[in-house]
Amino acid sequence: MPKNLNVLFLAAEAEPFVKVGGLGDVASALPRALRNLPADVRGDSVLDVRLVLPHHGVVKADARPLAMFPLEREGRDVMVQVSETTLDGMPVYLLSGGPITSVGSVYSSNPAIDAEKYSFFSLAALELPRVLNWNVDVIHAHDWHTALAVYAMLLKRRAGESKGVASVLTLHNLPYMGADLTEILASYNLPVAQTDLPDWAHALPLPLGIFSADAVVTVSPTYAEEILTPEFGCGLEDFIHRRREVLRGIINGIDTRTFDPAADPAIPFQFTSENPAIREKNKTALQEKLNLPVDPVTPMIAMVGRMDVQKGVDLALNVLEKITDIPWQFVLLGTGDPALEEAARKLQMEYPGRVRAELRFDGALARHIYAAADMLLMPSRYEPCGLAQMIAMRYGCLPIVHATGGLKDTVTDEIGFVFKSATPRSLRTALVKALSVYPDRDRWRTLQQAAMRKDFSWAQPAREYFELYQTLLLKEK
Ligand code: GLC
Repeated sequence: MPKNLNVLFLAAEAEPFVKVGGLGDVASALPRALRNLPADVRGDSVLDVRLVLPHHGVVKADARPLAMFPLEREGRDVMVQVSETTLDGMPVYLLSGGPITSVGSVYSSNPAIDAEKYSFFSLAALELPRVLNWNVDVIHAHDWHTALAVYAMLLKRRAGESKGVASVLTLHNLPYMGADLTEILASYNLPVAQTDLPDWAHALPLPLGIFSADAVVTVSPTYAEEILTPEFGCGLEDFIHRRREVLRGIINGIDTRTFDPAADPAIPFQFTSENPAIREKNKTALQEKLNLPVDPVTPMIAMVGRMDVQKGVDLALNVLEKITDIPWQFVLLGTGDPALEEAARKLQMEYPGRVRAELRFDGALARHIYAAADMLLMPSRYEPCGLAQMIAMRYGCLPIVHATGGLKDTVTDEIGFVFKSATPRSLRTALVKALSVYPDRDRWRTLQQAAMRKDFSWAQPAREYFELYQTLLLKEK
C-alpha cells in the first residue's frame, strides 16, 4: 500500500505568482522538487505537496474560487476566500479576505500592517486542510510571515487537536522576526504562552515559531551553526541553543531547468560547459547593450540582487573605487537602500567607462549578466544561503564570496574565490587574486568548467527535507 505524505507549504511569496526575493524561488521550487522525487528516494510514499499564499493585490494568477470559510476575530467572523490554481500540476491556494485584500504589495513599509496581514493569513492557512477535507501530515512554514501558524498549531496540539501533524519552520533570514503580536494574539483569542524566550521576543512571530516547531531548518548548514553565536544569533542565540536538537541546516538548490545556460532564452548565445568560449559573445553583447567599451579581455565583475547592507554592496563599491592600476568593468543590477543606490551612481559617475549601475529589477538582464560577466561579487556580511552564487557558477561566472552561511557551503577555491572576513581588506585581496588569475586562460577555464559541472539542483536538498518529514512523522505516531 502506498503511503500518502501530505505537506502544506505556507509562504508569503512564490514564483511565478509573486516574487520579491530568494524566498520566492525556494517556496516555488522546493515543493515541486518534493513532488517529483524519484521512486528510488521516496520508496512507496506518494508526496502530495501543496502551496498556500496570500492573494496579494500584486499576485498574477488565473485562479478559480474554491471555498469560503470564517475566521473568528474579536468575536466576529471574518470571511476567508480560497481560490485555486496549479503550478506544474501542484495545487496552489490563494487566500484573500480581511487584511490581505486591502494591502496590494507583498511587504509594506509598516510593520503593524504586515503583522495584521500575515497573522490573518497564517491562521487562515492552518484551517485550510480542514476546509479542503485533506488530511495534512506536515505544516511547513517559511520565515516570520507564516511562523504564527506553527505556534497556533502547538496551541492546538496542547488542546488535544492536530494530532499526528508535524510542523517545520524554515529560516531564510533570522533578523527579520516580525512585529509584536500581543494585541493581535488577543484578538484571535490566543494566549501568549510561557516560553523561555527573552522578554523582547516573547510575542514576535519568528521566535514563537522557533519555540513551537518540531523542526527548525536554516537554508544552509553553516547558517545553522552561525545563529548559535552572538555575531549572527540576533540576541536569540542562547534560546536557539536550547532548541538545538530540533535545529538543522539544509542547503537550498536552484531550479536547474530554468537556470540552464544551454537553453535559457534570456541569453543571446547559449552554451554548455563543453564550449564556455561562447560566453565571450554574450559579454560583447552586454557591453554593447550597456554602452561599455567592447573588449573581451577586460575582466567584467558583476553584482546582482537586493541593494542591502546585508549584501556588502558598500564594501564592494569601496574596494573597486580604489583598484585603479588593473583594468576591470563593473556591472551592478538591483534595487534597494537609497543610500547604496546613490553610492553606486556616484561610482558610475567617477568611472563612466568602467561602471554601469542598473538600479532596477530585471530578471532577463540578470541572466544575461550571469552568462556574460567573468566574476560575481558576493561580499555579504551574512548570507543564510544565497542563490546568485549558484546561478552564476552554473553560467560559468566565478563567484568571489565571503565565507559565511550558504556562501561558505557552496563555494570553494576550486570553483571560485573565498575570503575570510567581510572587510574591505579581505575582499580586496580576493578580488585582486581573481583579477590576477583571470589572464591565465587555461587556469580560468578549469575553474569555470568545474563550477559549471557542480550539481546545485534540488535533488539532494529535497531528499533531505523528505527524510526529515519522515523522521518527524515517526515521532508523531
Ligand atoms: C533570504 C536569504 C538568502 C537565501 C534566501 C532563500 O533571502 O537572505 O540568503 O538564499 O532567503 O532561502
